[in-house]
Amino acid sequence: MSDTPTIDYNARFIELLKSTNRPGLDAVIDGLGKLGFFNAPASSKHHLAEAGGLVRHSLNVCEQALLIRKAQISLRPDIAEKVPEESVILVSLLHDICKADIYKQVEKFRKDKDNRWEKYLAYETDYTHCPLGHGEKSVIRLLRMGLELNNDEIAAIRWHMAGWDLVDSYEAKGNFNAACDKYPLLPIIIAADELATRILEVA
Ligand SMILES: [Fe+2]
Ligand SMILES: [Fe+2]
Repeated sequence: MSDTPTIDYNARFIELLKSTNRPGLDAVIDGLGKLGFFNAPASSKHHLAEAGGLVRHSLNVCEQALLIRKAQISLRPDIAEKVPEESVILVSLLHDICKADIYKQVEKFRKDKDNRWEKYLAYETDYTHCPLGHGEKSVIRLLRMGLELNNDEIAAIRWHMAGWDLVDSYEAKGNFNAACDKYPLLPIIIAADELATRILEVA
């Protein structure tokens, strides 16, 4: 039997979140638990499509974002005060809370190696609980839970999907570009999310 200790991702998530000392986090953690955040997958079939995947993805984004922040500050020391570590941690860990209640497990069938049908569990998406969008939903939920977020953090969570969430709208693109220019936290989170999804979480 392996004696490698199991990582308690939920405990790590809560410890890291609380390290920011932002008022309102107890209510957020309680709210996330009620929404199913700690058991949710990160996607239905792409990255970390398994129970607990969303917590692991959030931690991966945080790890990437802290590294990117450090690298960017070494190149542009003047941005340091615009990207406090506290904001990077909060936004990374909470950017995808909109996904906490969109996945449901369903039974599906597939052929096994002997060409016989077998049952398996898969995830499907259901957006009917709170159909407000992606980043928008995360922001609204956090504010409703009583978390204090500044403008940089709101913009970074709202627009973290970047091109994936930009419909063919002149106004949406204008807002997104303005937010990227104004808040360096936003491109840091976009890059971290992409690197976590496409490098860290690829099997
Ligand atoms: Fe997202
Ligand atoms: Fe994400």
